[in-house]
Amino acid sequence: MRPHVLASCAVSLDGFLDDATPQRRILSGPADLDRVDEERARVDAILVGAGTVRADDPRLLVRAPERRAARAAQGLPESPLRVVLTTTRPAADARVHTGSAETITLAGTPDEVLDALGRRGVVRLMVEGGAAVLREFLTTGLVDELQLVLAPQLVGDGPRFTGGGRPPHLVETRTIGGDVLLRYRFGQADDRHLAEACVLAEQCPPSATAFSVGCVVVAEDGTVLGTGWSRRDHPLDHAEEGVLRGLGNDPRLRRATLYSSLEPCGERASRPDPCAALIARAGIPRVVYAWREPPEFVAAPSGSEQLAAVGVEVVQLSRWEPLARRCATRL
Ligand SMILES: NC(=O)c1ccc[n+]([C@@H]2O[C@H](COP(=O)([O-])OP(=O)(O)OC[C@H]3O[C@@H](n4cnc5c(N)ncnc54)[C@H](OP(=O)(O)O)[C@@H]3O)[C@@H](O)[C@H]2O)c1
Ligand SMILES: [Zn+2]
Repeated sequence: MRPHVLASCAVSLDGFLDDATPQRRILSGPADLDRVDEERARVDAILVGAGTVRADDPRLLVRAPERRAARAAQGLPESPLRVVLTTTRPAADARVHTGSAETITLAGTPDEVLDALGRRGVVRLMVEGGAAVLREFLTTGLVDELQLVLAPQLVGDGPRFTGGGRPPHLVETRTIGGDVLLRYRFGQADDRHLAEACVLAEQCPPSATAFSVGCVVVAEDGTVLGTGWSRRDHPLDHAEEGVLRGLGNDPRLRRATLYSSLEPCGERASRPDPCAALIARAGIPRVVYAWREPPEFVAAPSGSEQLAAVGVEVVQLSRWEPLARRCATRL
């Protein structure tokens, strides 16, 4: 299974990734560098091109000790696997070879690289540059999410951020200090919204006993009506429950699609109604989910069976199951 690919970079207002001097130009501010560190801590591997290793000599490690400790507590390496794309040999004294993370070099088309990383068990990959590698991954249509940070600098000359391939769809804008984060997703609507639901599961407050699930509800015209995750508003809340409560009787629900990282539940001990009943009652005609937990014992019909029985179209996109599972084990 190929990993989920997050491409991440900072660009100047005039679209440059660096300036033309030999020194590395840091574009974004400290708050955004900390956000990137948080993203690094969430992934299984970080990939850069050899050009970035030669130009910037980055270490590509998770910086914050508490994030490294949280990864270790989950049984993960303190920092993700470091992957350098190269057809030559990277300098043995490069800093990417120092520190407590494994570094590998790969060569090949982006498809081949992703297949190789998938075979190594990488579920989430972060592509951090540089110009050539970002263009290659974007142009071959293999990026699922792009986090582009617009930094308030005018550089004038240097390597440019360029792409090609599939059109980006805006998911979020966020101001981070003086920088602006623009978050985009690529691909078909079902894939975009379901992948987003999967990564939202990482926001769930931790629980030793309950699943961590993310949910997105999208109107017929593509408007995102609501997003949520398990235990957001109440310690017993399922993701779908919290989102539906926030939407009340919105008439757009009658033509909406609900995306959930996990199959909606068909049975609840802690609440009178399982999510399947809540979805049916809201009049939502279509449900798309990634991960189906095999029932521990056969009692009531599953959530999907209950929804199908009342005429709701239920689709499982198992392509996203590894991401749903990976995001359910959070820091
Ligand atoms: N602003 C940001 O967020 C950001 C982030 C990262 C980098 N940057 C900047 O980007 C610049 C570097 O970009 P760049 O375009 O020169 O280099 P790059 O994209 O980092 O690396 C290009 C190199 O990667 C290798 N490569 C690429 N595709 C490959 C493939 N499919 N198989 C095998 N090897 C492959 C080749 O290395 P070999 O020549 O060894 O074969 C190629 O020369 C620097 O100025 C850096 O500061 C900016
Ligand atoms: Zn539920």
